[in-house]
Amino acid sequence: MQIHDKTFSIYINSKTIKYRIKDLGREIEEDYRTRKPLFISILNGSFVFAADLLREINIPVEIFFIKLSSYDGMVSTGEVKGDMEIGNLEGRHIIVIEDIVDTGTTLHHFLKKIKEQNPKSVAIATLLHKPEALKHKLSLKYVGFNIPDKFVVGYGLDIDGEGRNLKDIYQLKSEVE
Ligand code: IMP
Repeated sequence: MQIHDKTFSIYINSKTIKYRIKDLGREIEEDYRTRKPLFISILNGSFVFAADLLREINIPVEIFFIKLSSYDGMVSTGEVKGDMEIGNLEGRHIIVIEDIVDTGTTLHHFLKKIKEQNPKSVAIATLLHKPEALKHKLSLKYVGFNIPDKFVVGYGLDIDGEGRNLKDIYQLKSEVE
């Protein structure tokens, strides 16, 4: 498949994503049965994952959205842009929802901000994680799939604004293939 001038091939199909999210939902439900979690979904990328994950969790929850970005096209800028102001988190059990943890820069900055507000606990739920690209120490409690350090699109993830609506996840084909 072609997006802009890049070629992608299917990497994780929608059925596989669906089953993995069901498992994650069950796990979160068990872990938070006695405490009402406040989910913070980091936009834009995590909107599809957040919508599907939350509907697999059958306990009372709250959800809040925040818009942050650290990517320019296909490159991590190392800088996080966006309004990090959120409501009162004191004493709350927070679960941050990300589409993908790549260098970890976005979450590193965001967690620092959240922790200033004395939440009772903070956990991370990410659909994808590229362990080889990680540059910050992060404890990732709920990970859908660990993937290699190659660019992916679909299921909320974009390349220069396109591809978020794709049901499956596609991986960039390397130029030498
Ligand atoms: P990090 O701050 O480097 O961990 O990057 C996190 C953000 O970069 C994600 O929320 C995505 O928006 C974006 N990102 C990282 N890797 C990819 C990718 O392979 N495809 C699309 N977006 C990505």
